Amino acid sequence: MSDQTRSEGLFIAFEGGEGAGKSTHLRRLAERLDRLGIAHLLVREPGGTPAGERIRRVVLDPETPVCAETELLLYLASRAEFVRRVVRPALERGELVLADRFEMSTYAYQGMARGLGLDRVRDLNAFATGGLKPDGTVILVLDPDVGRGRQHGGMDRLEREHADFHRAVADAYELLAASDPGVITVSSDDTVDAVQERLWKALSDRWPDRFPPGA
Ligand code: TMP
Repeated sequence: MSDQTRSEGLFIAFEGGEGAGKSTHLRRLAERLDRLGIAHLLVREPGGTPAGERIRRVVLDPETPVCAETELLLYLASRAEFVRRVVRPALERGELVLADRFEMSTYAYQGMARGLGLDRVRDLNAFATGGLKPDGTVILVLDPDVGRGRQHGGMDRLEREHADFHRAVADAYELLAASDPGVITVSSDDTVDAVQERLWKALSDRWPDRFPPGA
């Protein structure tokens, strides 16, 4: 962590394809941290701010077609708000921030699966974030066909994409994880309880103060 103003805060992004169980596991993590009395902030992207939640409705609406460039800029617009209004202030207060998606989603979905190009997306993302990076990224890994089989209810615009798109997202996450030794990958191909234990162990191996081993 290079920025002195956030020396006590910790920012962890959780990533994965559709149906990998991020939201379920983040909710369970948050409940566990609550029981242990460990303060944290659970937030999601796109969203997490008033403007971000409105952008979320537009970008995920199946009835609102957008081109890939617009899609990218909408996600980044939400992120610019999110970083300045939520993440930076929380880190400056020394909080633990758990984000349901952050920049790696944009690299995987827009940069790679949509083919907008990783270098360009990284540059535009850096503009949106002002250079703020997560301290760590956790990817929940699940075969995309299995992940999509787990989904039910109304599907949003991205969830409705064809299987090849979701396969490309999974391949992109795999490549991104392989090129960054700091990324933690956790297999989600098991029961919720088993995956939650695996996730907690991975987090406590890296940050034992925030995620006490065996707690
Ligand atoms: P969610 O359903 O996990 O909240 O995520 C919303 C969708 O938005 C999901 O399909 C992934 C997608 N997404 C992107 O394509 N790019 C991004 O930068 C982000 C944050 C999400």
